[in-house]
Amino acid sequence: MTRTLSDQTIATVKATAPALREHGVEITSAMYKRMFANNPDVKDMFDQAAQESGEQPKRLAAAILAYAENIDKLENLGGPVMRMAQRHVETLVKPEHYPIVAENLLAAIKEVLGDAASDAVLAAWGEAYWVLADILIAKEAEIYAEQAGG
Ligand code: HEM
Repeated sequence: MTRTLSDQTIATVKATAPALREHGVEITSAMYKRMFANNPDVKDMFDQAAQESGEQPKRLAAAILAYAENIDKLENLGGPVMRMAQRHVETLVKPEHYPIVAENLLAAIKEVLGDAASDAVLAAWGEAYWVLADILIAKEAEIYAEQAGG
């Protein structure tokens, strides 16, 4: 199933780019804190040095900002998508992990942005997340299949 975003959803996500530029690392740091507290098995998938140095929260924040800015021209994201998918396959990310990130990311957006994260903003990001997740899941499936085929 291919998900499509309405013009309204695209506009709502794009309008959050300045807030993401300012608070992105705060949001992703809060996201990992929540996710690791509730999912120790997911925590084990991550390099904890890259968490403590702030590197991975920065990488995720940059990816989310780039996505918000390019949501109406996703072809610009080919390179970064490939890199993310390769890293995900190396760390054995599977489709069933994506709802866990979705839930914790949306909760972190709400936690950090407060009233600015209106129901409309959260709904738009909830939809937009799954468009990117579907792209990554499909690319990762291709890489897993290539590996299996030798
Ligand atoms: C739309 C959702 C997601 C986005 C935008 C995303 C983004 C990223 C980015 C930008 C990186 C860094 C790649 C690099 O090395 O340059 C990364 C790495 C990683 N991601 Fe994701 N990711 C997503 C979903 C997930 C999910 C569902 C999981 C599973 C729990 C996951 C687990 C990981 C792990 C384990 C790494 C390696 C981090 C490390 O080196 O410690 N990601 N991801």
